[in-house]
Order: sequence, then structure tokens, then C-alpha cells
Amino acid sequence: MAEPEVCIYEVGPRDGLQNEPDALPTTAKLELIDRLARAGLRRIEVTSFVSPEWIPQLADGDALCAALQERPGTRYSALVPNARGYERFRAARVLSMAAVFISVSETHNRKNVNRSVAEHLERLRSVAERCRADGVPLRAYVSTAFGCVYEGAVAATRVAKLARELLDLGAAEISLGDTVGIGHPSGVRDVLEAVAGEVPLKRIALHLHDTYGRGLANLQAGYEAGVRVFDASLGGLGGCPYAPGAAGNVATEDVVSLFETAGVATGVDLEALVSASHWLEGTVLGRALPSRVYRARLGARARKARSGG
Ligand code: HMG
Ligand code: MG
Repeated sequence: MAEPEVCIYEVGPRDGLQNEPDALPTTAKLELIDRLARAGLRRIEVTSFVSPEWIPQLADGDALCAALQERPGTRYSALVPNARGYERFRAARVLSMAAVFISVSETHNRKNVNRSVAEHLERLRSVAERCRADGVPLRAYVSTAFGCVYEGAVAATRVAKLARELLDLGAAEISLGDTVGIGHPSGVRDVLEAVAGEVPLKRIALHLHDTYGRGLANLQAGYEAGVRVFDASLGGLGGCPYAPGAAGNVATEDVVSLFETAGVATGVDLEALVSASHWLEGTVLGRALPSRVYRARLGARARKARSGG
């Protein structure tokens, strides 16, 4: 397989499963992560060390990480909201990157982490200091970077300022989140132009939810602007529980297919993803996953089987 030209950062086990109505068994999550790694995904966000009261679906994060096998070439990360979360992260030896998150929108931030943006940034400062002391690379999400369900439009200059503050805190990578999937390509270009004035684009990732079906168009705009790291979720699982109506991330299958069709190597095996989604929806979830490419490939498999090929 050709050397990847873009990096797909898989968030299905975290962003996807945090939004499922019921918690999945830990064994099913372990199998999901194993299937993702075997499909060629080299960076996987496996869980969250947030409050189990807030996100019961991921309350087994400690047990999951204790059972997770190291896999050469695959890097696992997890969300960390505060110092308590960082303690749990450190105890999980298998993880190699911590991911903090903060919103541009005051209202979304308060609903998501129960603090103002300024208070939460101070809390993240102490997490970042611990990461630096321990040599742990830090990823930081800027949520509601392309609009907010509560506050509407978000100024690109505010996104750029917050991204700069996170860079100054020590973040190695900053993922700009379209948390509620209301962004559009020209807005993505505007935000990236403003952010590029503060943070080198090679440090930027895009985390695009697909609520309004514009996820791939937004991703394409980001790619053309120079971004090379894209978050995606197997089958299009997911959403944000504190952003009503938000759908899942762009589906990993759709992103891989888009890039590979355009001759941009991803290092990911699309057929292995299709098999993983098929296993997940049939054996674990009991409902259909939204990825268009997954559904198309599954249909093609069924037609081939019927025709005896
Ligand atoms: P709080 O209630 O203000 O916390 O919640 P607190 O500091 O007052 O503590 C209250 C209790 O929670 C204490 O226990 C703490 O020990 C415990 P008690 O003394 O009452 O028994 N606690 C914890 N327990 C385990 N792990 C922890 C932890 N922290 C406190 N880490 C808090 C504040 C941040 C914890 C809470 O608001 C929270 O967990 N929020 C997370 C919500 C969340 O996970 N949202 C989804 C992820 S973000 C997202 O999806 C967006 C993203 O995908 C990007 C995008 O799409 O834009 C990343
Ligand atoms: Mg998200």
C-alpha cells in the first residue's frame, strides 16, 4: 500500500460511542478498536476520561485501556477534561496522546464542561503542564469553530485566538471542530485563513460532523487549503451529547473513498472498514450506520454474492 499522504484520525470508539443510547460491552469496544487498527488506521481515539455521570457510555475507559493490546505503529489517544481525567490517562499505559477540548461558544462550553471558556482554559493549562512534564503529546479540540447551535455564527478571529492560546499552552495538534455540522466550505476557508495567521496549518486537523450533509465538502475545502489530518468515525457513528441534533462525524469509509478515488493515499483498507461496519451494525448496534460509501459497498458485495461472483 502506498505511503499515506493524509492522516485519518479515527474517533469512532470515542465520539461515535459516546452518543449511543446504551453503553456497549467493553469486549465489543476492544474488538472494534482491533478491527480499526487492522484496517490500517494508525491513530485511534479510544475513549474519554470524563465524568461517568456525564458520559456513562464511556465509563469503562480505565478497564478498556487496561485490556487494550499495544500494537506497533498504532497510536491510541483519549479525551481528558481536567486534572482528574489526566490521572486516569496516566494510569492507562497504552495511551500515547492526551486530547483536551474547549469551545469557542460560551454557551456550548458551559453545557459541555460546566465552566466558562476562561475557567476551562485555566483548567486545561494544568493538564498541559502535566503533559509537558511527562513528555506526553497533547491534542486540543476547538469546538464550535464553524458555528454553534446556541449562539449561531462564530467569528473566525475568535477561533484563531483560541487556537493560538492552545498552541501557547503546548498543544502539538489542534483539531477544529464543526461540532454540530453546520459549517460550509466558504466558512471553512475563512476560518482556516484566520487560523493560519496564528498556527501553522501543519499543526491543524479538521473534525467535521455531518449533520447537514456538508462534511465531505468541508473536508475537501480544508484539504485544498492545506490541512492533512482529518478526524473521521467508522460508519459515520456519533455526535455530541451536549449539542442537540448533531449527527456523527464524516464517515471513515467516505473519507477514505474520497481520497483514494482522487489518488491521495490514506494507508487504510476500505474493504476492511466495510467489514468492520457490517460487524458493528449487525452484531453490536442492531441498527443501520449512515455512511454512504459503506452502504454502496455492502450493496455491491450482496449483488456479487447473488450473481455467484
Ligand atoms: P463537574 O460536575 O463540574 O466536575 O463536571 P467537578 O470538578 O465539580 O466534580 C464533580 C464530581 O465528578 C466529583 O466527584 C469528581 O471527582 C468527578 P464527587 O466528589 O462528587 O464524587 N469527576 C470525575 N470523575 C471521573 N473522571 C473525571 C472527573 N472529573 C470530575 N475526569 C466535567 C466537569 C468536565 C468533569 C464534566 O463536565 C464532564 O465530564 N464533561 C464532559 C462532557 C463530554 O464528555 N462531552 C463530550 C465530549 S466533547 C465532544 O464531543 C466534542 C469533540 O468531539 C469535538 C467537536 O465535535 O467539536 C471533542
Ligand atoms: Mg465531535
